[in-house]
Amino acid sequence: MATTKKTTFSSTLGVIMAAVGSAVGLGNIWRFPYICGKYGGGAFLIVYLCFVFFLGATLMISEFVIGRRSQHTPVKAFQSLHSKKAWGFIGLLGLITSFFILSQYLVLSGWTTDYIWESVVGNLSALGTDAGAISNHFAQFSTDGLRPVIALVVFSAICLIVIMCGVQKGIENVSKVLMPLLVLLVLVLCVRSLTLPGAGKGLEYLFSPDFSKLTGEGVLAALGQALFSLSVGMGVMIVYGSYMPLNDNVFKTAMWITACDTLIAILAGVAIFPAVFSCGLDPAGGPGLVFCVLPNVFNSMGGAGVVFSTMFFLLLAVAAMTSAISLLEALTASLLEHAKVSRHLSAILFFLLTSAFGILFSLSIGPLSHITIGSAHLTLFDFVDKLNSIYLPPICSLFTIIFFGWVMPEADVQDELSNHGAVKIGYYGVFRFLARYLAPLALLIVLIAGIMG
Ligand code: PFF
Repeated sequence: MATTKKTTFSSTLGVIMAAVGSAVGLGNIWRFPYICGKYGGGAFLIVYLCFVFFLGATLMISEFVIGRRSQHTPVKAFQSLHSKKAWGFIGLLGLITSFFILSQYLVLSGWTTDYIWESVVGNLSALGTDAGAISNHFAQFSTDGLRPVIALVVFSAICLIVIMCGVQKGIENVSKVLMPLLVLLVLVLCVRSLTLPGAGKGLEYLFSPDFSKLTGEGVLAALGQALFSLSVGMGVMIVYGSYMPLNDNVFKTAMWITACDTLIAILAGVAIFPAVFSCGLDPAGGPGLVFCVLPNVFNSMGGAGVVFSTMFFLLLAVAAMTSAISLLEALTASLLEHAKVSRHLSAILFFLLTSAFGILFSLSIGPLSHITIGSAHLTLFDFVDKLNSIYLPPICSLFTIIFFGWVMPEADVQDELSNHGAVKIGYYGVFRFLARYLAPLALLIVLIAGIMG
């Protein structure tokens, strides 16, 4: 174990805020509610809760332990916990995953940023409740060469500034302000949505259990979402683990983060679906829900719609920002540890690189859509989307949990979880079983199903 201590978060609250910031993102707000409704509401929720608390949290705990025990960023973390340096490849894989996820995330975050602006200046409300006009507006915007790119760079530059301010002054302070703001925004939107006529139908769609809709595909979606939502499998939680105060209770902190992340995902559903159903609209998935269905909902609210629309896109941008910040931090801190560069230089370098790739992915939806990959003719954006959802995170999670459960000395794991014997770890037996058997098996199944499907 390393003895020199570098940067840390100032308190348990700081860790929780920053890690919840990483976990709560676009995945919670536009993906979770949709797949929950699609695959059987309450039935999906039960499966999701099992996955998120038994498998997702297990992975998060293992990443925190690897990070805090080693006091290193991903590559060195794996290298320092075993005599074979080759294990560092897991960390490298995590960082590559972070890089591609961030580049793609920037595209979607840029759209969100642009829609805050469009909402404020009244461009969205001017479209009224004409579903065709709203969809055309989004199609025109997302395929425009320039506007999404400008929005992407603005969003990315704000993340850069936060990272340049450092771990405590930047990430921790920003998370402590943005996370309560996010909760406030989501609560206000929930109240508005629930008080619309016919809101009950949306709640029914979201919560009433329909086991006939819970297909094998739904179960896999639940597991994939549990991992993505908790930001595990990309080295980010290893980096945040290395910033964790040494007396922090890793298990409790991970449970808090998991609970907050899940609660916010459910609240996002409560904010969205009652309003969608109240307007008699069909819930769509992904960007369609956020950029085509919801503007219609807001426009049907009359004058106040502009306020709620602005609040919603702000909520989305805040959620996306703290997630993007965690990804940029993982990359920045890693280079900082491996090369003699300053934090500023490292952050600027990754800002430039991820923005450049982000711009390429963004252009591939519009002006560069003729460039395709493979026999399926995927655009660059669709290709990286596939890489980020089906391949990289499950592969990296699988290697991480195998390392944690089978390679890393068990005495180190117990010592770290118990804070050198200071806290009780009564859960350890169950946790060990999950980490060694259940989690690797579940990840293997997801991976195989993803590759074959
Ligand atoms: N957890 C984020 C979401 O649900 O949108 C996405 C994410 C952020 C994944 C950071 C991975 C990560 F390292």
